[in-house]
Amino acid sequence: MLDIQTATAIPHVTRREDYTPPDWQVPEIALDFSLDAAATLVRATLHVVRDSAHDRPLVLDGGGQTPLSVKVDGVAVNDWRIENDALVVPLSGTDHVVETEVEIAPDRNTQLMGLYASGGNLCTQCEAEGFRRITFFPDRPDVLSIYKVRMTADKKRYPVLLANGDPVAQGDAPDGRHWAEWHDPYPKPCYLFALVAGDLVANTTTFTTRSGREVSLGIWVRAADLPKTAHALAALQTSMTWDEQVYGREYDLDVFNIVAVDDFNFGAMENKGLNIFNSRYILADADTATDYDFDAIAAVVAHEYFHNWSGNRVTCRDWFQLSLKEGFTVFRDQGFSADQGSAAVKRIEDVRGLRAAQFPEDAGPLAHPIRPDEYQEISNFYTATIYNKGAEVIRMIATILGPERFRAGSDLYFDRFDGTAATCEDFVASMEEASGEDLSQFRLWYSQAGTPRLTATLRQDAGGSRATLTLSQRVPVTPGQPVKQPMVLPIKLKLFGADTATTLAPERLVLLDGPSEQLVFDGVTERPILSINRGFSAPVVVETDRSADDLAFLSAHDDDPFARYEAMQQLMLDTLVQAAATGQADHKAVIAAVAHTLDDAALDPAFVAEAVLLPSDNFIGDQMALVDPEAIFRAREALRRDLGKALDVRWRAAYASTQADAFVYSPAAKGLRRLKTVALGYIAASGACDAAALAFKQFEAADNMTDRQGALGVLVAGDSAERVAALDIFYNRYSDNALVLDKWFQTQALSPRDDTLEQVQTLSRHRDFTLANPNRARALISAFAVNQRAFNAASGEGYRFVADQLIALDKLNPQTAAKLLPPLGRWRRFAEERATRMRAELERIVATPGLSKDMFEQASKSLG
Ligand code: PHE
Ligand code: ZN
Repeated sequence: MLDIQTATAIPHVTRREDYTPPDWQVPEIALDFSLDAAATLVRATLHVVRDSAHDRPLVLDGGGQTPLSVKVDGVAVNDWRIENDALVVPLSGTDHVVETEVEIAPDRNTQLMGLYASGGNLCTQCEAEGFRRITFFPDRPDVLSIYKVRMTADKKRYPVLLANGDPVAQGDAPDGRHWAEWHDPYPKPCYLFALVAGDLVANTTTFTTRSGREVSLGIWVRAADLPKTAHALAALQTSMTWDEQVYGREYDLDVFNIVAVDDFNFGAMENKGLNIFNSRYILADADTATDYDFDAIAAVVAHEYFHNWSGNRVTCRDWFQLSLKEGFTVFRDQGFSADQGSAAVKRIEDVRGLRAAQFPEDAGPLAHPIRPDEYQEISNFYTATIYNKGAEVIRMIATILGPERFRAGSDLYFDRFDGTAATCEDFVASMEEASGEDLSQFRLWYSQAGTPRLTATLRQDAGGSRATLTLSQRVPVTPGQPVKQPMVLPIKLKLFGADTATTLAPERLVLLDGPSEQLVFDGVTERPILSINRGFSAPVVVETDRSADDLAFLSAHDDDPFARYEAMQQLMLDTLVQAAATGQADHKAVIAAVAHTLDDAALDPAFVAEAVLLPSDNFIGDQMALVDPEAIFRAREALRRDLGKALDVRWRAAYASTQADAFVYSPAAKGLRRLKTVALGYIAASGACDAAALAFKQFEAADNMTDRQGALGVLVAGDSAERVAALDIFYNRYSDNALVLDKWFQTQALSPRDDTLEQVQTLSRHRDFTLANPNRARALISAFAVNQRAFNAASGEGYRFVADQLIALDKLNPQTAAKLLPPLGRWRRFAEERATRMRAELERIVATPGLSKDMFEQASKSLG
């Protein structure tokens, strides 16, 4: 209900069905940068070729610049014009050389798109549409060019000059300046262009590819950060080997550089031969990074490296195909991480992430298919749906085809589309052709939004020895998609016998492709228990009528670790939802199941730590018709307290048995650290009077950030003198380390204390808080917004706080601001009072003069 009068302008919508090939191709481009933070001169020489028989002029996208000069075939022209920021140049022939010159100001670029300054260095970010802010160019991924880059810069300030591809030459220039030239032989779209100029040092090594190419690897950082680069460099080498072994993909240039920068809108960027990373996904040592950080660094290094094939060698035809590179690459990095440690725990973590971020998106006003049909601002579509649901869709293809046929499909896809800009359809067709499997109906996963709901009912026939399983599916309505068709759901299932705890029916893969289906099992002579969606084989919500007894059985006996975890989660969820809805709680079954899990010495401690954790407030809320944040919080805290008290001896035993001598980063040591802090949390939840002292001791004795931040988190949740002391010590110890200070802000924003809202408001005025750095903004604002009880304070103050911050951030960095908006769009999930207050904030945002199109799209759709 947007007042059309006050709405900014009518938004421009880009539609997938309107795709047409480019009018002009640009087979080569030469770029010449005279770099300076305040005024950089960019000269671009484009070889342009008319793509078909048409008489349209050359249209080069721009980002608000005016050209200082335009030349065609070496001659200055003035018949050009600027239209919607684009440079329009009439051209008579089919083949021309067009030269433009512009001046840009990196130090005033707060959007962090295009060429910008970070920590005194200069760097670029072009995906999706940042290149146009550097120079005039057809800024679309289906225009592929060979790039030559020359940079000149002050030698003292910017001793290191990097760009895509291989270095060609370098030398000194007058006035204390120097220059370097780089050449990238692989045609690429402009979103993969990158340069870096700065005072940097590198951790280097070499990697020999399996066909014998020697590649120099370098991770470039500030000199002081050099000791924190070893983990990322090792992860890069491991990734390169893994992609050769698992996908047969080799690296294709003589250098591969990574640069870490502090100000970055996303995690990292896969620019050809020159990845640029948010420093949080590079820098790590035991003192400053948690195990979670170490794992995330390896995963992101692998992700960006894997893009060299899934994204760069084969790129996207248009931005509607974004999941072609992102879904596939996330699937690839998940496989990589699974192979580095516990595959079971990795799967649990990935599913938890999907449920936390993607399921709510798919159930809300911003739901979209993994291949969207339209957008206002493409930056808003770098979503959990494109990335994580996209990865689940690829995983389902891999499940249906099996490993050999999947690999054959991947080989065919890379072979056939190498050097081109492809579509999701090209990928699916390759999989089909290589496997002989018909994926026609499966394609609905690309076009239909919403999380399918699968209902499973298992009945043992009276007196007989058969059981019947009825499966049915329903795909919920999503914005713009009122009618849905049944999808193909690959469901792995198995039956156990309740009495003998043996297998009644071995695991099988069922492809449910109709609205419902019945499966009959013979030889079922005891009560069967259903294990379903094993390994989370389909990204769906499963509804069953399994009893608490059945779930407890599975949580103790299922041989699929994911299904085992899932049974425990379901048992906990059923208990918590019931308690939140009725105020009545029976904790016995959960306590018994957790006790059983803690007692099972055969289990991996990392798995135990995951299995005994209660579902989050948010996830509990997602199961309810309307979210009651206070009731959910009370129910969860009560269960935590009871678990803490009832199993006190076990938590203390687990705590004692997980102590280690010295820090080691290994899957086993990580698992022990994880379980240690989970146990500490339950000891504190029990109300034990020594809990704060125990946590403080862990905090002080820690030789690694995992233990230290874990203890801090436990203390920050409570109300002890140790809490205040630990926050001070932590702050003082790390006041010059931005990445660790982010943790200090984030830990407080996530606190379950009653005063978290006021604390967060105070923190937003802290001298170390700034909206200009995306990591810092996210550390406080995103963390607060996932704190369900604090954010949804009945007063509406939480909503107002977030809206105020977003309105301020939008003026600096619309892309990052718009990404933080979705929590405000969840108003339909709450009762009237909260819903009204949330809507009021969305309306205030939409009515803000000068709002970016990024924020306008997110906020107006959220009101929708
Ligand atoms: N393409 C990057 C990745 O996922 C993400 C990204 C998008 C980074 C847009 C910056 C800007 O690997
Ligand atoms: Zn990616």
